[in-house]
Amino acid sequence: MKRFAVFGNPIKQSISPIIHQHFADQAGLSIQYDRKLSTTEQFIEDISHFFSNSECVGCNITAPFKEQAFQLVSHRDDSARLAKAVNTIYRNDKNELCGANTDGVGLVNDIKRTVTELSGKRVLLLGAGGAARGALFPLLAESVASIAIANRTYAKAEQLAVEVNNERVTAVDIHKCEQKFDVVINSTSAGLTGGIPELGRLSFSEVSLTYDMVYQKVLTPFLAHAQKNGSENVCDGLGMLVGQAAAAFTIWTGYRPDTSDLLVMLRTQMS
Ligand code: ATR
Repeated sequence: MKRFAVFGNPIKQSISPIIHQHFADQAGLSIQYDRKLSTTEQFIEDISHFFSNSECVGCNITAPFKEQAFQLVSHRDDSARLAKAVNTIYRNDKNELCGANTDGVGLVNDIKRTVTELSGKRVLLLGAGGAARGALFPLLAESVASIAIANRTYAKAEQLAVEVNNERVTAVDIHKCEQKFDVVINSTSAGLTGGIPELGRLSFSEVSLTYDMVYQKVLTPFLAHAQKNGSENVCDGLGMLVGQAAAAFTIWTGYRPDTSDLLVMLRTQMS
């Protein structure tokens, strides 16, 4: 039997086992996927113990261990390198541990699945933390026209744009920004305390999609604001969560899950 796990703290709330079991059923694979509670002190030992079992194929990493996971793997993909965070670990042919960051691929696939192709789109990315970093390379890979990064702390947006080093990516001061956008993505953690990031005079009238990386039972405050101010479509991050899991499952097994019926099921369970 192939075994998998998700490591985090807290971890009881994680729905990753449900998601991956669903993918496994679809693929006709027999798997075991566990939730593992870890601590900062124990994390490296816990991962090494997990992979000492040859049945253990891979694991997901959630808060607060993504940065530690980045440090401990031997190889990292581009998104993981920019984010300095790893959410998926797998072994290569030499049995070395490799780290990927599939959050951005999950985001991009969900945007494409729900409403729109990203090619040629003008994107505004709110936030310059780990979540924003994970999204940048997958967005660029979709041939977006431009990505403007706006952050409460402007210097961090500027620093991130410099690190990405791509002429399509710039930092903007949201209070002075007069640009129009097709897609607005909120990667800030402002929503966790019930707020929304400052938006200056940002107009949603030409925005075809506003995306919030977080999700909850009801419309997030950020999406409610966007909808009220004219955004054509709004979408929360449940699909991104499922999408990042699907990308991890593909890395581990080669199978590409269909996520649509799972999303309907999860949405129904939430309501
Ligand atoms: P994550 O890994 O979820 O991205 P993070 O790396 O701590 O978490 O980044 C949090 C992001 O949310 C940052 O861009 C942060 O802005 P600062 O760089 O100015 O701290 C942003 N953020 C958090 N609370 C916010 C708020 N109330 N309004 C606007 N932005 C906020």
